[in-house]
Amino acid sequence: MILKDKIADLHRQVEEMKAANAEEVEALRIKFLSKKGAITELFNEFREVPKEEKKELGQALNQLRQAAEVRINEMREKASAAGMELADKQDLTRTPDTIELGTRHPLSLVREEIVDIFSRIGFTVAEGPEVEDDKHVYGLLNFPPEHPARDMQDTFFIEKEVGVQKPTDVLLRSHTSSVQTRVMTSQKPPIRVLCPGRVYRNEAISARAHCFFHQVEGLYVDKNVSFADLREVLLYFAKEMFGQDTKIRLRPSYFPFTEPSAEMDISCGLCGGKGCSFCKGTGWVEILGCGMVDPNVLEACGIDSKVYSGYAFGMGVERITNLKYRVKDLRLFSENDVRFLRQFESC
Ligand code: DAH
Repeated sequence: MILKDKIADLHRQVEEMKAANAEEVEALRIKFLSKKGAITELFNEFREVPKEEKKELGQALNQLRQAAEVRINEMREKASAAGMELADKQDLTRTPDTIELGTRHPLSLVREEIVDIFSRIGFTVAEGPEVEDDKHVYGLLNFPPEHPARDMQDTFFIEKEVGVQKPTDVLLRSHTSSVQTRVMTSQKPPIRVLCPGRVYRNEAISARAHCFFHQVEGLYVDKNVSFADLREVLLYFAKEMFGQDTKIRLRPSYFPFTEPSAEMDISCGLCGGKGCSFCKGTGWVEILGCGMVDPNVLEACGIDSKVYSGYAFGMGVERITNLKYRVKDLRLFSENDVRFLRQFESC
């Protein structure tokens, strides 16, 4: 085909150009006008044309290029106006894809189960602040001033003068026993509360320790509350939580705020108490701390220890969850990987 015909052919193509959107306009621009585009190619061919034909063909070529540029500009404007109109019509509040639903967190499920078990025997839920003062976390709970729990290595302080200890020091609570003091200083016995919540400790994060975790505290203060009452309630809890065959045992222990104090073990659910690697061959696994509220604590909170007595207990929600579902790495609880969380959906 001679150059003249090629120009005429491209003219026709340019006139017939159609584009539905900005991307298609750009594709046409590349096809005809880019460095390797069809019109540019003709300009290269034009160099070889004999002198006498140059004027006529040169004019024709320039007209072709101009026509293509005009067409493409027109189409580009049209496409961008159409794009804007489309954007106007779009409902930008609509979510692009269906949202994948998450699932209940195992710690929430277990906390709810604990609360449910105790609410059946008259406990109500009480809550307190996570950012607390020294008085409610340690002072009123009979912690001596030099107690290691008060150390900066164990407690996250927010406001504290180094070395000096004040009841007004601000810290992240290291146990939910602080809610006991909040309740006892603001309510009169009989008191029967369950205090679930998050606690913080200055610990390096590993499979077995975390700088935050969850506890549930229990407190009962009334006339004539005895250690036998405590044992009975804890046995009821262990059976409801881990199955009716579960046995408990209480071992003497020490906490500044209870006297006497104990730690409670349950019979190992894996081997049924025969001894296995999970319970290190003992047949028992530890689940909580408990005891009779120390009279010093009652008095410090304004409750007459000659008239009233009480018991308290505190357990880790992660610990109970691990015993129930054998989660071996504590970090899984805060990673929020739905593949992990989904496993508890039907629990
Ligand atoms: N506050 C204790 C802790 O964080 C747990 C605890 C032990 C709570 C004995 C109690 C109790 O109420 O009586 O380790």
